[in-house]
Amino acid sequence: MSNDTAPIPIILDCDPGHDDAIAILLAVQSPRIDLLAVTTTFGNCSIDDATRNALRILTLAGATTTPVARGAAGSLAGMSELGNYVHGVSGLDGPEMPEPGFAPSEKSAVELMQGVLESSDHPVTIVATGPTTNVAALIQQHPEVVHKVAEIIFMGGSTERGNHTPTAEFNTYADPEALDTVINSGIPVRMVGLNLTHQALATPEIVARMQAMPHPIGHICGEWMGFFGSSYRAVWSFDSPPVHDPCTVAALIEPDLIAWQECFLAVETKGEWTRGTTIVDLHNRYERPPNASVAMKLDTARYWDLVLDAIDKLGQGR
Ligand code: BDR
Ligand code: CA
Repeated sequence: MSNDTAPIPIILDCDPGHDDAIAILLAVQSPRIDLLAVTTTFGNCSIDDATRNALRILTLAGATTTPVARGAAGSLAGMSELGNYVHGVSGLDGPEMPEPGFAPSEKSAVELMQGVLESSDHPVTIVATGPTTNVAALIQQHPEVVHKVAEIIFMGGSTERGNHTPTAEFNTYADPEALDTVINSGIPVRMVGLNLTHQALATPEIVARMQAMPHPIGHICGEWMGFFGSSYRAVWSFDSPPVHDPCTVAALIEPDLIAWQECFLAVETKGEWTRGTTIVDLHNRYERPPNASVAMKLDTARYWDLVLDAIDKLGQGR
């Protein structure tokens, strides 16, 4: 008998990062999520900084028993495009943060993922909020555990324009070969791209709700949004920053928060100007069978209620 209220077991593979940080807090707090492990990747910052940031965020959240493992320092093709121009020198610039209260696993990200999948009684969802290098390496190195992955839901790509380049979103640009492996793995794939996450803006009203919370976690989130927002103003002339990554976790917690479209998805690995661009065939021009579910429309008010409620409950409980 299926149990729809049982928490969804997940591995969160991330490159924190201000919006990854909020995704981690949401996953830690939500009773609908069973956060089995956090694995880190290069992306918004170096792998050393991403791992340190994951440990600091989990320390802030009081989730120091969550296993954390360090992953890829660069893409499958050996590149290491970094997003410090958005997230600052540390990858999580802004407020003072606690130092890590625990150490990462001695296992690599791929080893930890493999172990978690092997020992789980239930299929596990992989949530990827950075370049998908670790996930692709898992698929390539451990095909025997692929059947234990319920689905891969990743933040990346877009049905429209990019951000890191005019056409490519950062995570998909950083490792297109990895995303290609993920898409062609046979595992169900859901894409949460910029077309969706640009509906999740941390407006001044949202930031004020964070700052009004009577605890440091709310204030830290507010300050993170301040730093993130200043990058978005400087680089892309946005009035408010899009808080991309928690949309993936929110989609698991409240399945009807996002409207999805099944379609054919590919990623450009060769283009002279378009490397890392996602090809999302919304109008079936290629007449290929759908191979992904693509996020289209966010219930923005409910999204922020969910995220802010989680941050507040986490802060009140500390
Ligand atoms: C993605 O890149 C990073 O800046 C964010 O953490 C997010 O995962 C948005 O393009
Ligand atoms: Ca990210």
